[in-house]
Parts: sequence; C-alpha cells; structure tokens
Amino acid sequence: MSKIQIRGGNALQGEIRVQGAKNAVLPILAATILTGGQVELFRCPRLKDVEASVRILRALGCEARWEGDTLLVDTTHLTGCTVPDELMRQMRSSAIFLGAILARCGEAELSYPGGCELGPRPIDLHLAGLRELGADIRDSGGILRCTGGHLEGRRLILSIPSVGATENLMLAGCGASGVTVIENAAREPEIGDLQNFLNACGAKVSGAGSSAVTVEGGCKLHGGAYTVMPDRIVTATYLCACAAATGEIFLRETREEHLSTVTALLRRAGCTVSAESGGIRCLSRGRLSAVPPVRTAPYPGFPTDAQAVLMAALLRGRGTTVFEENIFANRYRHVDELARMGADIRVAGRVAVVSGVERLTGAPVRCTDLRGGAALCVAGLQAEGETLVDQTGHIDRGYEDIARDLGALGADMERRE
Ligand code: UD1
Repeated sequence: MSKIQIRGGNALQGEIRVQGAKNAVLPILAATILTGGQVELFRCPRLKDVEASVRILRALGCEARWEGDTLLVDTTHLTGCTVPDELMRQMRSSAIFLGAILARCGEAELSYPGGCELGPRPIDLHLAGLRELGADIRDSGGILRCTGGHLEGRRLILSIPSVGATENLMLAGCGASGVTVIENAAREPEIGDLQNFLNACGAKVSGAGSSAVTVEGGCKLHGGAYTVMPDRIVTATYLCACAAATGEIFLRETREEHLSTVTALLRRAGCTVSAESGGIRCLSRGRLSAVPPVRTAPYPGFPTDAQAVLMAALLRGRGTTVFEENIFANRYRHVDELARMGADIRVAGRVAVVSGVERLTGAPVRCTDLRGGAALCVAGLQAEGETLVDQTGHIDRGYEDIARDLGALGADMERRE
C-alpha cells in the first residue's frame, strides 16, 4: 500500500479545482440503474469507492467507461439483480443499490455492507422504509433477499435523518406507484444533487434540502447528462490545510454555502475565508486560535466528516477546543496517531478536548479511516520535519489524489509506493 511523505513547514499558495462529490456520485451511480439508458456523468471523481460502484454496475450487466473525468454508464441491458458479497464488502455505502435494483427489477439480492471503521453501520431504517413500501425482505445468514413485486408509495417517517436511508427510499419511491413522502429526511446537499439527477432523467422528486422529500412514482425514466456537485468535505479539508499551514489559496468550482458551519469556525480561528464567484478564497496568517465547541450534527449542522480535519488544523491553536461527535460511535481513531506527532488531545466518550501545543513534530503515522487519514496529512503540513503517512488506501476512497492537490498548492508532499 502506498505511503505519503510530507515535509512540514511550507505555506500554501495558489489555486486548484475541487473534485466532484463522492457522497453525491455514489447514490447517483445507483440511480443510473433506474434510467435504463445511457448516462454521462461529468466531473465524476476517480475514487476507490466510485470504482467499487462501477464494479457493482458491471456485475449487474451494465456498461461503464471513463473519458477523462466523465463516466459513461449504460444500464440499458441490466441482466442481474444480485450483487456479489465481495463487491458489497468493498464499499460501506453499497446498500444504496438495494432501492434502485428493487425499483427496476422488482427483486434484489445483496448482503449486508457490514460494520465499518467508524463503528456499527446499521441499515435498519433503509429496510424498514422499503418494507413499508411493500418490499418483502428476508435475511438469511447476512444475505438479504428482497422481492418488491409492486411497491406502493406512502408516507414514511425516519426516526433519524439518515442520509443513506433517505436516498435509498427516494430511489425505491421512483419505482413505486403513487406518491412517497419521506419525512424527517436528511437535508444534506447531496440529497439535492440526487434529486436533480433523477429529475434530469424524467423523475418527479421535490423537497430535497427540506425535511420532507416527495417522490411521484411511476414516471418512465430515461438517460441523460449531469454534472456532479463539488465535494464539500474535500473543500473543507483543503481549507483546513491552508488554515494549518498558513498561506493563501483559492479553491475553484466549489460552494461556500455548503460548508458554512466549517468556514464560520475557520474565521473564528483567525482565517479570512470569502466566497467569491467561482470558488472560495482562504487566507491564514499565523497561529490559529481555539474555537467554541464543535458539535457534529446532521446538515445544516457541523459535518461529522469535517471533524477530524478541523481538529488537525487546531492542534497548534492558542487555547482549548472541545469536539463533540454525535453521529458515529468510533470517530476519534485518528487521535492516537496525532498524539505521535505531539498533539495534546484527551478523549472521553464522544468528547475530545484539544489543547493547542506550540509545535508538532513529524512522525510515522497510520491512517485509520478516510477522514482521519486526511487529518494526518493536515497535521503533517504544520509539523516540523518529516511525516510518513501509511495505509493511504483509506484516503483514496474519498480523495482523487490528496498529495497532487496539496502539492499543487505548494506543500512538500509526495506518494511513495
Ligand atoms: C453518509 C455519508 C457519510 C457521512 C454520513 C453522515 C455517504 C456515502 N456517506 O453516510 O460520509 O459521514 O452520511 O453525514 O453519503 N443509522 C442507523 N440506521 C440506519 C441508517 C443510519 O442507525 O438504517 C445511523 C448511523 O449509524 C449513524 C447515523 O444514523 O449513526 C447517520 O447515518 P447516515 O446519515 O445514514 O450516514 P450514511 O448515509 O451511512
């Protein structure tokens, strides 16, 4: 597995374009199944998780090929409705295929995506919603056999605004007869991107971004062309990198309104962050200040996916910052690695207290998960000496090439095979 070598101390300078959003493109790839046609996805990020989705599509008999950063998918000749277990295990969000296959074929067979490095990853809300729409789902030995026959739209109420469950039920709702209303739906911007994609292909979905999403089922979908929204978590990562390393960067083709809770805290920490036409500018002059408590919450709250990178940026901040992780049980695994670099962080349950230190020192560290891995890179940029980040395959699940991007901004950072 490749490693990333970082020599800390360089200020960042320059501009780069931000990749398309992983969390938008994954449900969109599942949604291509509903179109039964040819789809052109522009600005599709080349990520391990996207490749895993492509393998699932191919296993179902669909075609997919790359032209630059455009992914061409043809789901006309879907031949199967079973996703092999080894493909389900490659990506945690593979459960999203359930609603899409069920809506297209009336049946689906796949295994549980399993737990993940962030803790348990249940899909009970997905399954309960699908059952309410009329799907018969049987679980034997971790294999889910689903027969939909005829799905019927109805009012569904989620007990938690789960992103994946909202998306899965939107897809299933497209294949149901009548109207499906998902209440207490997740409001993440990626839900809006899925809605826009579906509507571009002939669906009638409305309400994304609010807590009630309405799907008028039974529309005949067709192929289409769509540009994936910018990745707000990659944007947050690079802003935190600039905040930590100092300097001035411009991130092109990304949207500040998708991450205003993150930029508000970076401003509190002492950075100048401004939304400009076509992107976001960030200026960081010196040591940051601690910020008020950071509590992760469903959108529009502070994103759990940005918790680790903001923590990394504040390791040398003046004062103490409290983090409270409210979405996933096991999301402080990067803390022990950051401690190897001299960070002062105390964890108790869902709370982590970061006391800013004068200096960090480079060290060999190991990625524990996707965003935790990105956080190690952010820490390495501000550490004295060399940091060698191991197990970078985790980072490649969500960043096209973090070393290329931060390297283009002036970081001394390169991949070592
Ligand atoms: C998505 C994102 C992930 C992000 C997360 C929260 C994708 C591909 N991934 O994950 O990057 O960190 O949203 O913003 O979009 N839950 C249940 N039962 C369920 C479903 C979820 O208990 O059936 C719980 C989860 O364990 C978690 C919480 O609900 O504690 C939120 O999870 P959810 O919003 O579903 O996250 P994902 O869609 O898995």
